[in-house]
Amino acid sequence: MAGVSFRGVSKAFGSVVAVDDVSYDIHDGEFVCLLGPSGCGKTTTLRLIAGLEQPTGGTIHIGDADVTMVAPKGRDIGMVFQDYALYPHMTISENIAYPLKVRGISKEDRAKRAAEVAAHLQIGNLLERRPGQISGGQQQRTSVARAVVHKPQVFLFDEPLSNLDAKLRLEARGFLKHLQQELGVTAVYVTHDQAEAMALADRIAVMDGGRIVQMAPPLEVYHRPATTFVANFLGSPPMNLLPVTIERTATHTRFVAPTFSIDADEWSGRLKDRVEHGEEVFLGVRPEHLGVGREGDPWTMKGELYAVEPLGPETLVTLSVGDALATLRIFGDEPPEVEGTVHATIDRANLRLFRSSGERIELG
Ligand SMILES: Nc1ncnc2c1ncn2[C@@H]1O[C@H](COP(=O)(O)OP(=O)(O)OP(=O)(O)O)[C@@H](O)[C@H]1O
Ligand SMILES: [Mg+2]
Repeated sequence: MAGVSFRGVSKAFGSVVAVDDVSYDIHDGEFVCLLGPSGCGKTTTLRLIAGLEQPTGGTIHIGDADVTMVAPKGRDIGMVFQDYALYPHMTISENIAYPLKVRGISKEDRAKRAAEVAAHLQIGNLLERRPGQISGGQQQRTSVARAVVHKPQVFLFDEPLSNLDAKLRLEARGFLKHLQQELGVTAVYVTHDQAEAMALADRIAVMDGGRIVQMAPPLEVYHRPATTFVANFLGSPPMNLLPVTIERTATHTRFVAPTFSIDADEWSGRLKDRVEHGEEVFLGVRPEHLGVGREGDPWTMKGELYAVEPLGPETLVTLSVGDALATLRIFGDEPPEVEGTVHATIDRANLRLFRSSGERIELG
């Protein structure tokens, strides 16, 4: 096992900059999820680690070795692609053993090792079948077995679960988490699915436009998003972002919106030297940190009921607040009784502030 380091790595395809001057370290044994919208450079990042693309700038290390100019077969990598890329004419056993064949391992040893890994992944009874004769979930496990069979230093996964239905996907996610903990693998895992990234990752790297916007443990990314982009990308529904204007005097602080105004004197010290009178900022608060309050309660904003969505263990209550919408997540079997004007109370321990340009304001 080994870590992966990027130093000022860029990759351009003509005028398209797919990866834009990124530097970071993925530690030995760490599971990192790359999360971000379509086209942000996730697959290109994996292909750079695998050596399937050459960077147009910067250096890549795997362990202590500079692999920037090393061909794919000289890098010790296991890769699982989105479409599994199994060979249809080969048996499951031959598919799994293929990386060993390429490395010149004897036929007997290959079959033995493939059977071991397959048993581990509960596909040991399918070894003589061909990919067309097994289910999507079994193909996915075959693809994982092939990636792990030669015990590579680094695993790369490119949306390996995206072809599975919701139930199988959850099962496979649990299995990958288990495998990761059992093998202690260094893995870079690309997904669109923020819940998958939260569930699997030691750290999440949120990408946008070829850059890493934030790289941190899942709960830190969730609770302390670096920017409004990250705040919006993680969480379902995402973090509420409400535009307000800061009103400050020597003794008072308020957050003022067209339809509500919050007395924030308590935060005067925390905001000192950080925001200016008249500055426009976003209040950022997750749905579970808004509750149903009463008129006159402190740290409350007023809205008009827009929708109530009972989901079983929780209910989503959405309010229209001026031009914005704000969603409350209310836990419990019974939907709350709300109608007309609703006062939503902010759990201020979990309130974040963002500049109009998007960065989170570090409070004192
Ligand atoms: N071989 C290529 N030639 C030209 N442009 C490319 C090539 N590969 C990728 N790109 C461009 O680079 C950018 C990043 O692509 P990449 O495949 O890394 O995105 P991604 O984050 O994996 O997206 P998705 O979530 O849709 O898979 C995109 O604008 C894409 O069009
Ligand atoms: Mg991709």
